[in-house]
Amino acid sequence: MTTARFDLLLDDVHAATMSDASGYAAIRDAAIGIRGDRIAWIGPASELPRTALTTRRVDCGGRWATPGLIDCHTHLVYAGNRAEEFEQRLQGASYADIARAGGGIQSTLRATRTATQDALVAQSKPRLAALISEGVTTIEIKSGYGQDTATELKQLKVARRLAAECEVDIRTTLLAAHALPPEFAERSDAYLDYVCREMIPSIAAGRVADAVDVFCETIAFSPAQTRRVFACAREHGLPVKLHADQLSDQHGAELAAEFQALSADHLEHTSERGVKAMAHAGTIAVLLPGGFYTLRESRLPPIEALRAHGVPIAIASDCNPGTSPVLSLVMMLNMACTLFRLTPEEALAGVTRHAARALGLADRGTLSIGQRADIALWDIDSPVELAYRVGGNSCAAVIRLGAVQRMSF
Ligand code: NIG
Ligand code: FE
Repeated sequence: MTTARFDLLLDDVHAATMSDASGYAAIRDAAIGIRGDRIAWIGPASELPRTALTTRRVDCGGRWATPGLIDCHTHLVYAGNRAEEFEQRLQGASYADIARAGGGIQSTLRATRTATQDALVAQSKPRLAALISEGVTTIEIKSGYGQDTATELKQLKVARRLAAECEVDIRTTLLAAHALPPEFAERSDAYLDYVCREMIPSIAAGRVADAVDVFCETIAFSPAQTRRVFACAREHGLPVKLHADQLSDQHGAELAAEFQALSADHLEHTSERGVKAMAHAGTIAVLLPGGFYTLRESRLPPIEALRAHGVPIAIASDCNPGTSPVLSLVMMLNMACTLFRLTPEEALAGVTRHAARALGLADRGTLSIGQRADIALWDIDSPVELAYRVGGNSCAAVIRLGAVQRMSF
């Protein structure tokens, strides 16, 4: 028998491995052996080969380990803030009213266009740091506050720069079709000509985006227009995602499924037909309780239908200055349970295993042999506590690609 050799061995740890569809797939009194940047061994500590050798051993003191968290839907790179719109909404204005009056996304667009790359990095980094401090090891960041090639590119480059400067893996998504820029007012098809002829080709050639997203809604782009952008993205080899059925049923879920989208996100107004189409296509449902909460929505996403048809549910922060100024993915676990009635197991799967799938990533999201050694350790007595608590930060350590990033014990 060959001797097991590890670079790092975590012991006296309980593991919520999330490695199968049934809940936490927990291993109590576990050990986790890491070689290089991968998990090389995981199981009950009592089964660890006695001859196992390790360069470094960390006694986790009975803490819980989960996969590093994955925030699969954010608009984290932007300039300015929209606190005044929060006040307007408190006085009765709706998100759509504010958008029609030239506020909303347009106001962030103005601020983001004029910000330098350095200013965008400086404003975005603290937001990223907050998410990382709570165990996030992979995050998706969308563009969508430029609506011209230079600014969209600037946002995506800032996201790539944050990846180089911070301890996190960043996936980027081009969301050029988020809103209509002022120079194309009343000419949305002409804007999409520009997106399809210029933006998508140059973004694809520069490899600055990993996917393409569209906001399909009455206040944004129609299903026919969305179809056009998706066809162009696919021609350039980019997978697609969709802001679908957030404020009205645009049959966005069906459209996402038709293009084998990685995910359809929001889904408050999606019908059972849409859910079936997603199940058939393998499209992940990304639910965003932060936006639902902020906009005081009352219509729930079709949770029962998603369960019944076996559509995997991911949960994300939707971090953005308008509908979800949220800097805690852990808080989204609580909101997913409280507002959407997910179980704590489903919620945790939503920010690990299913979030990885929503980004098309097969190498992370569970604690199992061969996966990236991206692990968060928590000061909790059971994994339910992650969803149960509101506020506070129980993340005690983060290991990313096999390296201990931070440890507070
Ligand atoms: O995911 N739905 C559209 N886009 C964002 C909001 C962007 C904004 O208001 O700045 C969302 O909710
Ligand atoms: Fe969003």
